[in-house]
Amino acid sequence: MAKLVINAWNKKFKINKDLYGQFSEHIGRGIYEGIYVGEDSTVENVNGLRCDVVRALRDIQVPVLRWPGGCFADYYHWKDGIGPKEGRKKIVNANWGSTVEDNSFGTHEFMELCEQVGCEPYICGNVGSGTVEEMSDWVEYLTCGGSSPMSELRAKNGHPQPWKVKYWGVGNENGGCGGNMTPEQYGQAFRRYRTFCRNYGDNRLYCIAGGADVADYNWTEGVMKTAAFCGERRLMDGISLHYYTQSNTWDHKKRATEFDVSDYYRGFVRARRMEELIEKHCEIMSQYDPRHEIGLVVDEWGAWYEVEPGTHPAFLYQQGTMRDALLAAVQLDIFNRHANRVVMANLAQMVNVIHSIILTEGNRMLLTPTYHTFALYKEHQDAQLLDSWLETEEIGDEESRIPNMSHTASMKNGVLTLTISNLSLEQSEQIACYLLGFYGTAIKGRLLQADCAAHNTFEAAQQVKPRELQGAAFTDSGLKFMLPPCSIAQITVSGS
Ligand code: AHR
Repeated sequence: MAKLVINAWNKKFKINKDLYGQFSEHIGRGIYEGIYVGEDSTVENVNGLRCDVVRALRDIQVPVLRWPGGCFADYYHWKDGIGPKEGRKKIVNANWGSTVEDNSFGTHEFMELCEQVGCEPYICGNVGSGTVEEMSDWVEYLTCGGSSPMSELRAKNGHPQPWKVKYWGVGNENGGCGGNMTPEQYGQAFRRYRTFCRNYGDNRLYCIAGGADVADYNWTEGVMKTAAFCGERRLMDGISLHYYTQSNTWDHKKRATEFDVSDYYRGFVRARRMEELIEKHCEIMSQYDPRHEIGLVVDEWGAWYEVEPGTHPAFLYQQGTMRDALLAAVQLDIFNRHANRVVMANLAQMVNVIHSIILTEGNRMLLTPTYHTFALYKEHQDAQLLDSWLETEEIGDEESRIPNMSHTASMKNGVLTLTISNLSLEQSEQIACYLLGFYGTAIKGRLLQADCAAHNTFEAAQQVKPRELQGAAFTDSGLKFMLPPCSIAQITVSGS
């Protein structure tokens, strides 16, 4: 029997709902087909946006969506994607398979998507191949309510009212695909671009600097030093971090569904590295921002595998298994534990690409196991993280050792939510949970459990989905329940 102690007296900090964000880039069938099918499509849509996908995203309360890239962002010229569709410029998407990008999904379509889903837009502007003026104009086009060249252009294109945009990315991976700059060069660029991203009316931008890839601490150091502050004035609101649990760099390239026991454990070792990366990048940030005013934004994370057979290698289309649902749970737990510094996280990528929560084929759609992780975790959004301790044991093989379980406990509106996963491939866990400072009167539980390689297909789309958790019960000191191997449980306890 493993012990879990939850201390509801000790509420640590708020888990920002934006930790449950998503990312969608113009890659393969990520936007086109996956989200946007056009108004004339036989797939049910509202203004070209797939109803099934929008409905699924609303159901898990996606809080924020990052767009248009990724590497595509520093290649994208937003004025190509506005105005009558027949007049929009066609470009070659050189990063992702040199396909023709007809720009039929642009600013207005993205903003409508966010409205339909009910999420915040997070727009990433072009530093690598765009000008300061171009980025400044985009902010004006989106958010300026007065009479100005860009607000008049927006009105001419059918949207007289300005939109609200909070999150603004100043470039993406500018040490690589976004311009191959040094941290100091990018820091200088950030200072200029950010200066001309203005707040119009009561719109307030939260400007995010393009941050490090994995353990590039030199990048975080150089950018923070050069661009976090201008004298006493803070220029930066957030700085990003990208980290993929990437099998392409493992010994062999393997597909999402193609792994053995040692790959399974190694995946968790790699996923858990997120914690060390967050802590080390935050330590560097603290040297330049001792008051912790600048947030860390993990705006690309996920498990990246070899593409599915028969698909274009640059479209990055992959399946998702129960292993990926567990990998996501472990990383969401890490974000929750660091929610005092990590203000946003965006899973890459939402539909039909890497570690997607949704896959589509024609008019069919399926929810991957990772979608269900987000469904089980949604109660943590904007909840208070509770102090808690879980007794774990080490599992794995000789090379990869990991704790057998991972969890988060939070409280919102008088309801305690516990999500807990068992990573063991064969061992069930009986949990004795001690509740301090909370008297529970009703328990509800759901369970996602499947073989680690199980996944949903278009032929069998309901293979992996949550069901009711049986047998959770109150005890004198709290509650008890059983967690089968390869499973994630969500338990909500009402009370006082
Ligand atoms: O998500 C795919 C790519 O990974 C993004 O375009 C880039 O930012 C990262 O390297």
